[in-house]
Amino acid sequence: MLRWPAEAIWEAVAPGLPGFTVEVLPEIDSSNSELMRRARNGQAEPVLLVAERQTAGRGRLGRAWQSAAGDSLTFSLGLRLAPADWSGLSLAVGTSVAESLHPAIRLKWPNDLWLQDRKLGGILIETASFGEGAGGRYAVIGIGINIAPRPATGLSTPPAALRELLPEVDAPAALLRLAAPLVRDLQGFEQVGFRAFQPRFEARDALRDRPVTLSDGTAGTAHGVSEAGSLLVHTAAGLQAVSSSEVSVRPAAH
Ligand code: BTN
Repeated sequence: MLRWPAEAIWEAVAPGLPGFTVEVLPEIDSSNSELMRRARNGQAEPVLLVAERQTAGRGRLGRAWQSAAGDSLTFSLGLRLAPADWSGLSLAVGTSVAESLHPAIRLKWPNDLWLQDRKLGGILIETASFGEGAGGRYAVIGIGINIAPRPATGLSTPPAALRELLPEVDAPAALLRLAAPLVRDLQGFEQVGFRAFQPRFEARDALRDRPVTLSDGTAGTAHGVSEAGSLLVHTAAGLQAVSSSEVSVRPAAH
């Protein structure tokens, strides 16, 4: 059983986010699913929900998210957000988390944390409406980070683990580093949108100037992100702004 720094996180976050609570569950299907269920039942309070073990962790594009208790950090942050423009939210989240953890962590558009071209973590953002006529939506920001190395079964590239960079780190320590800055950055995003995060994202952009292939087969060279968080790709047909989160991008073989 891990010891979670729930109180320290609460003390750092609650003054700027009234009603905030921290909850740790030994087991749940998925921390995102749980907060989405609660939101649909009218519970839209700000909460950081840690799942020590997920039995049905979910990734983007309907994929499963595999993690082993103790060897990974899996949590969801639920809070009301009312930004003028939601574009680039997952990039802002990735930027915040990477900055809190280590300078060597890169970001692979739209929302993977990468270490030396291997996946270190992922972000799954879902939103639910709440209340009649209330402004904004309830955002559920789910984050999974590999803490200890795990077998690469079924994956083409073995995943990365945070302990490669921080040998002593465990899931509670990683959460303590990133939770309060993440809430602050989300509040910053709500105020000014992705614009403020664009240079911070670009400083860690793993795809910059690299050949990429879009999922529709288009080949090109990644050229940073726009102020709206779209991936800019130089293609034979000119500069293309890729905004759909359904587009997957990988560096072409080289
Ligand atoms: C991805 O890379 O496809 C996103 C992975 C997101 C995984 C996290 S783990 C905590 C939260 N609960 C889930 O079921 N998924 C997210």
